[in-house]
Amino acid sequence: MSESKYKQYIWELPVRISHWVNVLSIVILSLTGILIGNPAFIDSSPTAYLMGWIRFIHFVCAYAFAVSVIARMIWSVRGNCYAGWREYFPFFSKEGRKDMKDVFDYYTFRSSRVPETVGHNPVAATAYFGLFLLYWFMILTGFAMYAEHAPGGVMHSLLKPVYLMFTTQQMHLYHHLVMYLIIGFVINHIYSAWFMDIKEKGGEISSMFSGYKFTTSRYAVCKSKQWEFFPWSGKKN
Ligand code: HEM
Ligand code: HEM
Repeated sequence: MSESKYKQYIWELPVRISHWVNVLSIVILSLTGILIGNPAFIDSSPTAYLMGWIRFIHFVCAYAFAVSVIARMIWSVRGNCYAGWREYFPFFSKEGRKDMKDVFDYYTFRSSRVPETVGHNPVAATAYFGLFLLYWFMILTGFAMYAEHAPGGVMHSLLKPVYLMFTTQQMHLYHHLVMYLIIGFVINHIYSAWFMDIKEKGGEISSMFSGYKFTTSRYAVCKSKQWEFFPWSGKKN
């Protein structure tokens, strides 16, 4: 007999917008970045300005990506509990460590019970924290390389610590290598989202479009409370 499920509003609009802006910009940043690192069109006509346009697209997406990451961080103290910053550190609470163990046991075939997660899967959430550190590494090294065209400028002065840590060549190398770490995350992430969508039967993938998930418990438990700053960011469940 099929289990009855309850429809719950989990991902608010800013979370979904920032997710898909990040996805689109990361895809374009990676494609243009690979071409910047290995300019295939170097010997085409200089008047065509092809590499110039590729760099321009990289920078437009870089601004969109940086704004989206900052907006998501602000939302992590303003949005509902599923969007909250505490969700990224499940190992700090006893309950969170238990949830992590359940997911870990399932992933490593130690248990066949499918763990139901209402907000972020705790193992995925821990990886998202690592991913956010990589995002910031890309933003800081990216803007530091970008600001090299104007050494007297404000951006250059603000990014002084990055120049103290890395040479220009190192910034190019690490900016390039971290892209492959992000691509590695994405491959695993899409596989896991697809897998849990099938196993959990809770509308995992569609939830990142609609905001709704389907859970067996009537009232999803919010593990953390956010400040109710905006009228629309109050309790949703
Ligand atoms: C996830 C996001 C990003 C990815 C995957 C990415 C990828 C890349 C790659 C692979 C390169 C070539 C590096 C090389 O081999 O020299 C590159 C270059 C560059 N990226 Fe990014 N990038 C990202 C974000 C950013 C951001 C946020 C900025 C900020 C402006 C930025 C600015 C630059 C600059 C200035 C260069 C050097 C351009 C040149 O030398 O002509 N990138 N990027
Ligand atoms: C460049 C590619 C992608 C990146 C970097 C990425 C990154 C992320 C991040 C950081 C989160 C946490 C969201 C937040 O807390 O704001 C997330 C959640 C999620 N993403 Fe993606 N994503 C990518 C592509 C996709 C795709 C293609 C799908 C659909 C097949 C997808 C489905 C989901 C789902 C269902 C969640 C919520 C599930 C959960 O957190 O447990 N993502 N993703």
